[in-house]
Amino acid sequence: MPALSAHPSEGLAGSLRVPGDKSISHRALMLAALAVGESRIEGLLEGEDVLRTAAALRALGAEISRDDDGRWRVWGRGIGGLSEPEAVLDLGNSGTGVRLLMGVLAAHPLTATLTGDASLTGRPMGRVAEPLALMGARIQARDGGRLPLTITGSAEPRPIGYRLPVPSAQVKSAVLLAGLGAPGITEVIESAPTRDHSERLMRHFGAEVEVSPEGEAGEGRRIRLTGQPELGPQEVRVPGDPSSAAFPLVAALITPGSEIALPGVGLNPLRTGLIDTLREMGAKIDVENPREENGEPVGDLRIASSVLEGIRIPATRAPSMIDEYPVLAAAAACARGTTVMEGLGELRVKESDRLALVARGLAACGVAVEEGPDSLTVHGTGTAPQGGATVESALDHRIAMSFLVLGLASQQPVTIDDAAPIATSFPDFAAAMTGLGARVTAGPS
Ligand code: S3P
Repeated sequence: MPALSAHPSEGLAGSLRVPGDKSISHRALMLAALAVGESRIEGLLEGEDVLRTAAALRALGAEISRDDDGRWRVWGRGIGGLSEPEAVLDLGNSGTGVRLLMGVLAAHPLTATLTGDASLTGRPMGRVAEPLALMGARIQARDGGRLPLTITGSAEPRPIGYRLPVPSAQVKSAVLLAGLGAPGITEVIESAPTRDHSERLMRHFGAEVEVSPEGEAGEGRRIRLTGQPELGPQEVRVPGDPSSAAFPLVAALITPGSEIALPGVGLNPLRTGLIDTLREMGAKIDVENPREENGEPVGDLRIASSVLEGIRIPATRAPSMIDEYPVLAAAAACARGTTVMEGLGELRVKESDRLALVARGLAACGVAVEEGPDSLTVHGTGTAPQGGATVESALDHRIAMSFLVLGLASQQPVTIDDAAPIATSFPDFAAAMTGLGARVTAGPS
């Protein structure tokens, strides 16, 4: 368990290209494996989560290789064309990997057993198993719908109309991926929109996906996928991950005297809740060169350290920044006044119980914090938090990086007990932050 410490730092400066988007990387590999022919992917996240998905797809018969210039090639087998794996598929720490793959497997007449690490085997899979069973997959899981589980897919799954009981892009995507193999229209209704990378990328690969507003005020979405399309091989360029950009972004905001640039970050409006929230708190964040790359909005960010004010963040914003609450809590700890975050129930079933771990870690760093059943209240004083604690990262990359960010702007260093999980989404995090002038060192402080 390699510990890592962040020390009070001078202003951060420079430019950093953050790693490729994790959500889009998983989807690009899976859709390329379902297309007929060779797709090429540029900017793929080479983090452990995505490498696990690549390994699982290889075990299912897709040919996947990496060129010396970092471009990936995937020889897809076509929808329904994957073959039965000989061994258990281990998705490591990745909820997205396992849940989306379940959708793919539901539309294949084969049997596969899926497992993961100690974090992933504790997470709920019933939310995905339930709609996939309606589509014809047979799934046997451990008590509470947990991994390991065995799935037997169907050669011709039934198309369904499904209203998401929880706002989850993973559940939506699993149903849509299974729907690729179903004749007719598969429909998913979400009462709060979640990230729509699957819809955008399916269109990019040639599927027909219609999206219309849903609900009295049009606040939700109805997604209609026409099944059994012919997916053609594509070139995909994966933008920088806004959820990874969030760490240097908040670090620059709360470390006085900072000015940094983060080029090529994905700015899908269903992912930019953190930027909206921080701007409301007073953050100086500029977007330059807005553009579109394979159907996804992208831009270059410029960030300067800012005086932040506490605010109330409505529950309706949660889906657009669900992975960013831990690092937002670090920003709130440095802001003047109280920040209230609501609608956070889903944080309890992420890589860790993020609500509990953030509250515990902030308290250990001398920050006044209240944890509700699905809310978090952080009382900032507008001065540097005390710090000086060792925080448990609990197999959760975002907990680890959030507390290292807090350490840069605290009076005393902050240590995380285990930095290994960071490699799931941001393999060179420590070096990247050091390159901007952050003081991050191996071991305890
Ligand atoms: C993701 C969806 C979100 C998010 C996760 C990635 C995705 O999970 O927390 O990191 O790529 O679809 P939920 O679907 O469980 O909200």
